[in-house]
Amino acid sequence: MALMTMSIVVAMFLLVASTAASASHPSCPATPPDTGATLQVSHAYGPCSPLGPSASAPSWAGFLADQSARDASRLLYLDSLAAASAKGGGRAYAPIASGRQLLQTPTYVVRARLGTPSQTLLLAVDTSNDAAWIPCAGCAGCPTSSPFNPSASSSYRAVPCGSQQCALAPNPSTCSPNTKSTCGFSLSYADSTLTAALSQDTLAVANDVVKTYTFGCLQRATGTAAPPQGLLGLGRGPLSFLSQTKDMYAATFSYCLPSFKSLNFSGTLRLGKSGQPKKIKTTPLLANPHRSSLYYVNMTAIRVGKKTVSIPSPALAFDAATGAGTVIDSGTMFTRLVAPAYLAVRDEVRRRVGGAVSSLGGFDTCYNTTAVAWPPVTLVFDGMQVTLPEENVVIHSTYGTISCLAMAAAPDGVNAVLNVIASMQQQNHRVLFDVPNGRVGFARERCTSA
Ligand SMILES: *[C@@H]1O[C@H](CO)[C@@H](O)[C@H](O)[C@H]1NC(C)=O
Ligand SMILES: *[C@@H]1O[C@H](CO)[C@@H](O)[C@H](O)[C@H]1NC(C)=O
Ligand SMILES: *[C@@H]1O[C@H](CO)[C@@H](O)[C@H](O)[C@H]1NC(C)=O
Repeated sequence: MALMTMSIVVAMFLLVASTAASASHPSCPATPPDTGATLQVSHAYGPCSPLGPSASAPSWAGFLADQSARDASRLLYLDSLAAASAKGGGRAYAPIASGRQLLQTPTYVVRARLGTPSQTLLLAVDTSNDAAWIPCAGCAGCPTSSPFNPSASSSYRAVPCGSQQCALAPNPSTCSPNTKSTCGFSLSYADSTLTAALSQDTLAVANDVVKTYTFGCLQRATGTAAPPQGLLGLGRGPLSFLSQTKDMYAATFSYCLPSFKSLNFSGTLRLGKSGQPKKIKTTPLLANPHRSSLYYVNMTAIRVGKKTVSIPSPALAFDAATGAGTVIDSGTMFTRLVAPAYLAVRDEVRRRVGGAVSSLGGFDTCYNTTAVAWPPVTLVFDGMQVTLPEENVVIHSTYGTISCLAMAAAPDGVNAVLNVIASMQQQNHRVLFDVPNGRVGFARERCTSA
């Protein structure tokens, strides 16, 4: 039961945003239609975010500082998932900071439609989460402006207590003694509590329809954790989108994430086996039975230019018991390495580049000159090498001359065990998650023009 509970944890917050997705930039093209089993992916903080201008940060330095703070909480969250098993089962997820880390805003979003007639939602793509939440109409404490309205959907149904799905829900609080009542459940994170009704309705993504999609219809949120939006859980737990659509998509998907600076919506999330790249370098997925939703891979070395930097092997080694190792994550923006690995990479980058180093917005290897020859960084995995060109390694100021190495160490004072390969390092690559064959693939693909 504990394992089942933990696999649901938080997840798949469906992001219910205004149906009229307003672009903030005058030259933003209209989002093209989703076709087949392919969804258009947009960056939540880019100039063309469908979340609108408020989601964009005021300045470049402000943006970096915001993202870096967000990533730091995300890391704490992923790390708490990874380490939970080491603390002796029982309560699977141990919140170690505020609930905000679990409920933070998304990095990439796709469109979906829920109910009959359908209501348009935006969903955040999250590879490290499982279950589904939707802020629902009448939710007290949900800061969502246009929540899903179950009473306007003829296909909506509340899941009863005695059902199999209810047994998978975390803390099914309102079930006894009447097993015929609606399966209500709650989650608490530090100072925050979420209460939801387990629900089912018809979910449409691109041209496909998921008939009885199970999700948590959020009814109350207290504390700091009130989610303004949700996540498309692409983790492997029993209630994730991936598990619920196993018959349609065979637990296989790929994405090409557009650059956050892009004005172009050509990033895609492709669901199912069809249309996936046939020739692609892959590395085995590692199984951590205690944390099955994280996509662990075996990163064995990192090269800066041609030089393999010296990283103590425990910093990269996979350990199911402690949760240590490397995960591929779509919800973290900039790669985070455990301190010994980060320091080795950073020192070699600094040695190669030379000149005066400064810090900015959580990044400690920045240069205030356009004349920087940044070396490529190669991530070496078991059976696969991914050489990242400058666009995946460096953040350039949009106005000044400053550029920074787009990676960081775990936040100070946190004994983090996870290396997280984040979205910026994945941009303009097709990243394939092939769960049945136990592998993750990378292929260069230009999915965005800027
Ligand atoms: C977006 O990218 C596609 C593919 O690279 C390209 O054909 C198209 O012209 C781009 N659109 C804009 C507005 O940049
Ligand atoms: C970067 O360099 C330019 C030109 O030398 C200077 O004007 C600017 O103030 C510098 N920016 C920072 C943040 O140091
Ligand atoms: C990771 O890859 C290295 C090198 O191929 C290998 O020695 C090690 O056993 C692998 N670790 C796991 C957990 O598969």
